[in-house]
This record gives sequence, C-alpha cells and structure tokens, in this order.
Amino acid sequence: MDNMIEKAKEYIETMFQGNADGHDVSHTLRVYRNALQIAKAYPQSDLYVISLAALLHDVDDHKLFHTENNANARRFLQDQNVDSKRIEQICTVINSVSFSKNRGRHPESMEGKIVQDADRLDAIGAIGIARTFAFGGRNGRPVENTLQHFYDKLLLLKDEMNTEEAVKIAEKRHSFMEDFLVELHEETGL
Ligand code: ADP
Ligand code: NI
Repeated sequence: MDNMIEKAKEYIETMFQGNADGHDVSHTLRVYRNALQIAKAYPQSDLYVISLAALLHDVDDHKLFHTENNANARRFLQDQNVDSKRIEQICTVINSVSFSKNRGRHPESMEGKIVQDADRLDAIGAIGIARTFAFGGRNGRPVENTLQHFYDKLLLLKDEMNTEEAVKIAEKRHSFMEDFLVELHEETGL
C-alpha cells in the first residue's frame, strides 16, 4: 500500500501541474492528511479506500478535466492492478465528496463521510481564506466580490460536517474566519 500511495502522489503531481487556483497538489495532500487524521478516530473505517479516494478526489474535477465516469482515477487504479470491486468503492467515495454536486447530501459510507469532511476542512480557516482569494483573483474578481463566497459557502460548512472529529477542527477554523471578517470590516469597511 505504501508504494501505491507514493505512486498516487506522483500521479497527482503530473495531473495538477501548473495549477494554482486552490485545486492543486498541495490541496490534495492536505485533504489526504486531514482524512488520515479524522480516520484515526474511526478505526473501523477502511484506510485503503480513504487514502486513495482522498488522493484522487480532484483528478476528474469538471473545472479542470473533461473526463467522464472518473476516467483519470480509474486509469491510475487500473494501472496499479487494483481489483475492480475496490475501484468501484473508491470512485463511489470520490463522487460523494464534491460540494457542488452533493449540496445538502451526505455520503452513505464512513469512508465517504471522512473524505468529504477532509475536503471541506481545506475550504475553511486560514487556508480556506487563502484559497478563496486565490480562486477569486484567478477568475478576475476583486476582493469585495469574492467576499460573497464566505456567505454562500464557507460559513455554512461547519454545520455540514459528517464526523465529530471534523466538527472539532471546523469549529476552530470557523471562528478564525469570523474574526477575519470582523477585522477586514474594521480595516476597510467591506
Ligand atoms: P469542490 O471541488 O470541493 O466542490 P470548489 O471547486 O467549489 O470545491 O472549490 C475549490 C476552492 O475554490 C475552494 O477553496 C472554494 O472555496 C474556492 N471557490 C469556489 N468557488 C468560489 C467562488 N465563487 N469564489 C471564491 N472562491 C471560490
Ligand atoms: Ni478538493
């Protein structure tokens, strides 16, 4: 399994080359790390599925890739001779993670719940703030327009976490974002 994780890291390095909008290798590696941290509290969960789903969760994201049916994730897993039942399990988890595709819906499996929480944790707190303005800038939006995204998404995520473990981390990150918004308002009136 360690070898496969290394191979998956190499694969995402090539897939996200040149991306700097918050959907990049460092985001994926943070999601992987968050997922392992949450999974420690749920020893019955399947670390193999969690690890590979976390590392591959954005390789078919429609904003970056024009693939169907998780083609990029499947290609990697097939090349690694992962058996087809496992591939289906991993793809099901990946498909249950996306915020935009699953708004309001929670993954059924424990592995899906963990990877979704891991991805959402990276959208809030200090890193969430940094990614949001990076995304806004890349799409030509000034700071004042990008701020709306806090109210549309970031401030809602704390209450949408699946696992108690993620809620604990999310609460700290959420209150940091609230402090940030107060400070920004004091400094700029925004
Ligand atoms: P996911 O792939 O989990 O559905 P997104 O693609 O929506 O997540 O978000 C990726 C990153 O870009 C996140 O940090 C998110 O907050 C940021 N982002 C997405 N939409 C916007 C937006 N309209 N304005 C600013 N940031 C955004
Ligand atoms: Ni992601």
